[in-house]
This record gives sequence, structure tokens and C-alpha cells, in this order.
Amino acid sequence: MLRIRGLKKKFKNFQALNGLDMDVEEGALYGFVGPNGAGKTTAIRVITGLLKPDEGTVEIDGKDAFRFRMEVRDAFGYVPDEFGMYDNLKVGEYMEFFAACYGYTGLVARNRCMQLLEQMKLDDRADAFVDSLSRGMKQRLCLARAMIHDPKLLVLDEPTSGMDPRTRLEFKEVLKELCAEGKTILISSHILSELAQMCTDIGIIDAGRIVLAGSMSEILQKVNDSNPLHIRVLEGREQAVAFLQKDSRVKTISIEQGDITIQFHGNSRDEARLLEGLLAAGARVNAFMREQGDLESIFMQITNHDMERVVMRGEE
Ligand SMILES: Nc1ncnc2c1ncn2[C@@H]1O[C@H](COP(=O)(O)OP(=O)(O)O)[C@@H](O)[C@H]1O
Ligand SMILES: [Mg+2]
Repeated sequence: MLRIRGLKKKFKNFQALNGLDMDVEEGALYGFVGPNGAGKTTAIRVITGLLKPDEGTVEIDGKDAFRFRMEVRDAFGYVPDEFGMYDNLKVGEYMEFFAACYGYTGLVARNRCMQLLEQMKLDDRADAFVDSLSRGMKQRLCLARAMIHDPKLLVLDEPTSGMDPRTRLEFKEVLKELCAEGKTILISSHILSELAQMCTDIGIIDAGRIVLAGSMSEILQKVNDSNPLHIRVLEGREQAVAFLQKDSRVKTISIEQGDITIQFHGNSRDEARLLEGLLAAGARVNAFMREQGDLESIFMQITNHDMERVVMRGEE
């Protein structure tokens, strides 16, 4: 649905996007995660055609977004990170204004607006002033507006920032429903855990490029495969350590109070083989356990540039 290659964008001396590649499959709920200043908004502005990149390509629904501006415009809806001011405009009027921008008028427009307001649970607010809405309601209104032309792809820039936990949860439910109805959704956030439970795919951006991307299960697996592995042996620790030292996938070995902790890059099959090897080498192993992946700490490490190395090495 969305294919991005080699995006670069420089502001004066600052390289905001530095060779960004991204793929969002049709039907995905894609979490675009990165610390503040990583380049999320810049990337989204390029995707939505508001900003011209210095280099690179964006394809939306198979079409070059820069060459086919008008066709592509109908394929996506955009919820920006900042909500404008709409003094003296009522919710219904606001919707009808945007409907008119897409060529809907009269009864067709009114029906379309009401249907979207209902879907966003705002139908009882049609006569309220936009500025009187809560932050959560404003974001749902913005989403209703972004869907006026029934686009296949929705692009949302940090929509849940500034929401209280309950509103945030409700908003995420709405997104999950839309995804289940067949929309492809790209949502950005600087908080990984915020998106982890709901997204099907994640792309982590740091300093203008993707440092880790894939389906949630792939990422968790990758993270897991580079976590520390703890080994406890009753007898034959020397044999165990000698055996581990010979394995090239064992990157580090540390021994603390008799427990051996290693950095071992491999999947669960490799783990099983390692355990068999330890036993064959004469070690009596009574505990053998991979530390479970904590996505949040991984995110912190990746964006501090440490984990990036580890993860890359895990892919060798
Ligand atoms: N119009 C601009 N002029 C100069 N610098 C900018 C501009 N827009 C963004 N930047 C800089 O580019 C970097 C990335 O910004 P942004 O894309 O907004 O990050 P994010 O949305 O991930 O927080 C930041 O360091 C920001 O200061
Ligand atoms: Mg931003």
C-alpha cells in the first residue's frame, strides 16, 4: 500500500531524513515509532505531499506520489499532529466544509458526514462548536474528516499524544475497528508500548532512518534471539565454559555467583542444540533460560544506538 525508498530531507544543515525506507502492506496497522526529533513528522509530511524530499520515492497504492498527485490524494486521509483553530464552526459544519472540498454536496454530503460522525461516536455533537470538544473528541473528528472520501490508507501523526489513558484506549479501539474493516493505517508515536499491543507491524525510526522494522512477531522474535541466555550447571562448569568459548555465536560469557550468562544469537532450535552440546561436553545443566524480550528497553537501546549493532549482528 505504501512503499518508500531512500527518502532524504535536509533542513539547512540538519539531515532530518537520511535514507528512509519503509513498506506498509495493505491491511496493516503500522506503528511508526521513534523518539522526538527522529523525523516522523517530516516523513509523514513527505508522504502526504506537503513537503518535497531532496531525494527518494514514495508510492501509494502502486502510484508514484509525486508524479500522480491528484490520484494519490484520493487514496489517503491524513490526521496531522496539530489541530488548527476553528472559531465559530460547529462539528457538522466542519464536516460539511471538508466534504465540499472533496466534491460532496447537499444530501449526499450530509448523509456521509452523519455516517462518519456516528462511526466516530460524535453524532450527538453535530451542533457543538469544534473548539468546545475535548482532545479525544477533536482527534476523532479529525479522523472522521480524514475519511470523508473513503480512502484506503489513513496516516495519523501522534494522534494520542496529550490524551488521558481512557481516551487513548477508546481511540485505539476505533483504529482497530477501522483496520478490521479493511483500512490500512499508519500511526506514529514516540512511545513504543503505546502501539505494541495494537499494531500488526512496527517500524522504528531514529535519526531519519529505519533501524528496525517487521511484523510484531518478527520483531519480538528478533529481540528475543539477542537477549541474554542464563545457564546454571550443577557440575562441570569448566567444561561448559570451554564448550561455550568454542561456539562463534556466543558473543560474551559472564559468570556471576556460579550462574553463566551468555550473549547468544540464535533461534530456539539453536538454543536446543547448544544445550545438547553442553550436556555432551560433560556439564550437568539444571537451568537454561532465555531472558524474555522487553520491547520498551529494546527501543531505548536501539535509539541509543547500542542495540542497533546487536540486532544487526543477530541477522548475520
Ligand atoms: N521546517 C523545519 N525547519 C528546520 N528544521 C526542522 C523543520 N522541520 C523539522 N525540523 C527538524 O527535523 C528534525 C525531525 O523533526 P520531526 O520530523 O518533526 O521529528 P518527530 O516528528 O519524529 O519528532 C527535528 O530535529 C526538527 O527540529
Ligand atoms: Mg512529530
